[in-house]
Parts: sequence; structure tokens; C-alpha cells
Amino acid sequence: MTHVQVCRWKACKSNFSEYILKRLDGDQKRLGLRNLVVEESMCMGMCKKWPNVVVDEDVMNYAEPAKVSERVIKWPPKIKKKYKKKG
Ligand code: FES
Repeated sequence: MTHVQVCRWKACKSNFSEYILKRLDGDQKRLGLRNLVVEESMCMGMCKKWPNVVVDEDVMNYAEPAKVSERVIKWPPKIKKKYKKKG
């Protein structure tokens, strides 16, 4: 389960937090992410570092929407390489 909190208070709201919420909603619907819980939060007390997002207790200051999505959906997925033993 991935738990995301997006600050939706004054400073963050006027600086991309709305877009982050929309983007996460889109990711959730598009990719069918059932283990993703997205919540809006009150001020986190880090207003100068807007927008602020917390993903599983990791604080993301100056959160860029694409990086939040990457962190949440763990994209790109790790590709397991298969090596064949020679000999
Ligand atoms: S407004 Fe977002 S941390 Fe204060």
C-alpha cells in the first residue's frame, strides 16, 4: 500500500498541488493502481518549499508532478535481465 498526502493549503495549492492531485488521480485510473491511497492534507509547516508531498513518510519538498508520479508508480519499472550462462 502506497500512502500519499498532498498539501492543499494556501502556498502549495497555488503552486501545483492541485495539478499533482489531478495527475495522481489520472495515474490511478489509467494504471488501475489499487494499492494507492491519495489524501489531501492541511499545511505541513514547510510552506516555503512548495508544493509539499509525503509518500509513505518520505517528504518531497519542491515536489515536481512528474517526479511524484514516478515515485508513486515506480516508473520506469525495473527490468530484470536474464543472462545465459555460457559453457
Ligand atoms: S501550505 Fe503547504 S506546507 Fe504550508
